[in-house]
Amino acid sequence: MTLRTLDTLGALSGRRVVVRCDLNVPLKDGVITDDGRIRASLPTLRRLLDADASVTVLSHLGRPEGKPDERYSLRPVAVRLGELLGREVGFGEESDATITVRENLRFDPRETSKDAGERRSYAEELAAGADVFVSDGFGVVHRKQASVYELAEVLPSAAGLLIAAELDVLERLTTNPAKPYTVVLGGSKVSDKLGVIDHLLPRVDTLLIGGGMLFTFLAAQGHPVGRSLLERDQLDAVREYLARAETLGVRIVLPTDVVVADAFAADAHHETVPADRIEDTAFGAEAIGLDIGPETAEAFAEAISASRTVFWNGPMGVFEFPAFAAGTQRVAEALTEVDGLSVVGGGDSAAAVRALGFGEDRFGHISTGGGASLEFLEGKHLPGLEVLGWEGES
Ligand code: 3PG
Repeated sequence: MTLRTLDTLGALSGRRVVVRCDLNVPLKDGVITDDGRIRASLPTLRRLLDADASVTVLSHLGRPEGKPDERYSLRPVAVRLGELLGREVGFGEESDATITVRENLRFDPRETSKDAGERRSYAEELAAGADVFVSDGFGVVHRKQASVYELAEVLPSAAGLLIAAELDVLERLTTNPAKPYTVVLGGSKVSDKLGVIDHLLPRVDTLLIGGGMLFTFLAAQGHPVGRSLLERDQLDAVREYLARAETLGVRIVLPTDVVVADAFAADAHHETVPADRIEDTAFGAEAIGLDIGPETAEAFAEAISASRTVFWNGPMGVFEFPAFAAGTQRVAEALTEVDGLSVVGGGDSAAAVRALGFGEDRFGHISTGGGASLEFLEGKHLPGLEVLGWEGES
């Protein structure tokens, strides 16, 4: 609970501050398709610039495997940051601008090395010439990496405003959340979500399951799922959670209808069917489930808007294709109607609400961390927070 915040660093005028942000944004053909993480980094950067500090911004982008790769260059991110700040932003190690973005940290294999000594040597290089370190890349605090962990040991360090804000909200999801408390899980993989289901089951009232992972739940109940996503090796675990939920009195709500298609494509033929009759269409055993159905979307929306606390992670369907976006759209809309705290987990769900045109201020909070927010809610140790003095849940 004793996270070191910016105030603990003292006066910053004239000091050289190195800041770890998570500027890992989606790019298509070199163009940023969602700049949410860059915008979320602005308050800390502005605070430091207003305090007359000189600022070096560090980040990773994608997973370039330890060597330079132009496709993962942070140059377009530096340009966008300059536009958003309304001032010149330098790029690369040679720049002497007041604020500079360095090239992708993961071009050096030591950033993500398993060897603590290698990470330490990289952190020392990153610290050279700097006075203090501000850690503000919430999306990466679950990674024990040189710029997240060792760098915070090498220099006097503190959390930035984004990390403090994210923690503030996520703690409200785990410490005395207002009831009813509903968690909505979607996305493709059950295996990514089991930890959070496990940790949250005793705390929530209702768990709504959509997205690709719902088909493993349906299969666990003995229903045929055609060619829909299925993680066979998780069937036993899913059955166990269904049984545990019943014992704990937690409602796990599975879809009653789904939208199935004859192919994974934007223009695929599709039909809505009862969830237990996925193979009873003209597509037969070839049917692929790509969204929750309208009846389910309505039922989910009702449960969500009647709740006082809602956490949502993972789209309900393949929202990138308009024909399969309705479930995600309806769930997002219901979150905007919550009279209480509504939190959108990072990654795909955050991208979905922006892509579907929802204003960010309609939600209580949109996290910048997909994996990080899930691991937080799983109650895991997050190295990037612990190194900043944070002691976890009480
Ligand atoms: C994310 O996108 O979740 C963060 O930027 C972390 O990226 P990583 O999963 O490649 O470590």
